Amino acid sequence: MVEFILLTVVKHLGKGRNVTTHPTTPGESPDTTVNHVAGVDASGSTTITGAPAQSDRNSLTAGADGPIMLHDVHFVEQMAHFDRERVPERVVHAKGSGAFGYLEVTEDVSAYTKAAVFQPGARTEMLARFSTVAGELGSPDTWRDPRGFALKFYTTEGNLDIVGNNTPIFFIRDAMKFPHFIRSQKRRGASGLRDNSMQWDFWSLNPESAHQVTYLMGDRGIPATYRHQNGYGSHTYMWINAEGEKFWVKYHFISQQGVETLTNEEADRLAGTDADAHRRDLFEAIERGDFPKWDMYVQVIPFEEGFTYRYNIFDVTKTVSQKDYPRIKVGTFTLDKNPVNHFAQIEQAAFDPSALVPGTGLSPDKMLLGRVFSYADTHRHRIGANYLQLPVNRPHNAKMNTYAADGPMAYDHNGDAAPYAPNSEGRPFSDNPGASEDSFHVSGDLVRRAQTIRSAEDDDFTQARDLLMNIFSDEQRDRFVQTVAGHIAGVSREDVAERAFQYWANIDEGVAQRIREAHAALKA
Ligand code: HEM
Repeated sequence: MVEFILLTVVKHLGKGRNVTTHPTTPGESPDTTVNHVAGVDASGSTTITGAPAQSDRNSLTAGADGPIMLHDVHFVEQMAHFDRERVPERVVHAKGSGAFGYLEVTEDVSAYTKAAVFQPGARTEMLARFSTVAGELGSPDTWRDPRGFALKFYTTEGNLDIVGNNTPIFFIRDAMKFPHFIRSQKRRGASGLRDNSMQWDFWSLNPESAHQVTYLMGDRGIPATYRHQNGYGSHTYMWINAEGEKFWVKYHFISQQGVETLTNEEADRLAGTDADAHRRDLFEAIERGDFPKWDMYVQVIPFEEGFTYRYNIFDVTKTVSQKDYPRIKVGTFTLDKNPVNHFAQIEQAAFDPSALVPGTGLSPDKMLLGRVFSYADTHRHRIGANYLQLPVNRPHNAKMNTYAADGPMAYDHNGDAAPYAPNSEGRPFSDNPGASEDSFHVSGDLVRRAQTIRSAEDDDFTQARDLLMNIFSDEQRDRFVQTVAGHIAGVSREDVAERAFQYWANIDEGVAQRIREAHAALKA
């Protein structure tokens, strides 16, 4: 009997009736067919194994009012796949947006690097992803936060990823501190709330954060859109030319749209009315053909000078003066293509500071070296061990011959080629003994200590003071005082608030006093 009913239901569904009826006759089952609506196409979908699916609307039940049959394979596979529809969000930089485009090299920097991607006239396809740092996947785009500025160049020599921020500096100078820093900016264990006390507790106990916190609390702490911000590699990287000469470089990407920012009030309003404002702006600009562009520059520091310059260039809390090392133009990148699927192409995009190409290299910056491990590691967890085989991540312009093999969801493979090296079956392997071309000299005992301070001005506060007192205008400094005072007003622990005032006194007593007074006025 059950079998008969099942067959009847299946036959009934298979007919795909193109009528809209809402029968109300007792004893009949409601039919929600809307197949007459323009754009509704009931001509059929498939199961995940490619066979015609019976119905995407009705599960297979024992009679119209009966239980669902476990052998409704289509229902089971739809439900099971839905249950796995998310990958974990990024542990930081969860909320972001991206687009594809190309880098065109308009100048000649071949004296500094042999990388094919930076040779005169080279045009290389690329992906950019912009993000906030501390907020979760659904968080507002306009919270005050640094913005991630991640670039992936699909070069003929492999992928080159430059994974920077919209600020040229960072909060800390040792990778060991990064998880602690991030936890202080995220949420409390009990309440699940973000907590200004934790934030100021961390910053004031780690005074090397002063330069970046000054930047963050200034106008540039909230960009108007992703298009109206500059990007920076932040760390010092290495370039190597065709003669094997080495240079230190700092990457700068200057927005052709200009730099525009939001006030606290504008940002708060947008956070409430359009949490996706920056995502919307980027997508819609590209949709209407208003392609955003950034000019790429480098500051080039001769190799030996890098070890003696008055600031430690391997400390990411410091900038390198443009008076000492002016920006040299490389070219321009343009974003002209929106993703056709945000999940596949942006959520699953995986940027690695470890993705380097010949002619580029790392530096002894310990933050950078910590990142070189962290990113590929988190991708293996977040996306899977073969994340580099996904279309958005694969180095599709380079000739591949990797000995990495198999693993979950392996798609690329080397057929029956020898899976080991060295081999005598003719499959090439690499064998370059001796110093690598991107090497730098190191010596010393193993220690746990911050980078060496090179001069009186290489301390935690001088560059922060310069930004606050000499680079900010009076109006910018006024807004900065109000922003900091407002932020400290959210600190529930008095001792932490007091330490926060002291933190600013290290930079400028007068500004610290103004912050104290503005804070008192807010609390009154
Ligand atoms: C030791 C310090 C750091 C560690 C351990 C670290 C770790 C991470 C991790 C685990 C992610 C998530 C990646 C993913 O799931 O796709 C991430 C994302 C990111 N980080 Fe860092 N980070 C560090 C410092 C920095 C610094 C200094 C910058 C900028 C100069 C930066 C820029 C970014 C950007 C832009 C993203 C998002 C990439 C994307 O769009 O997918 N990080 N970081």
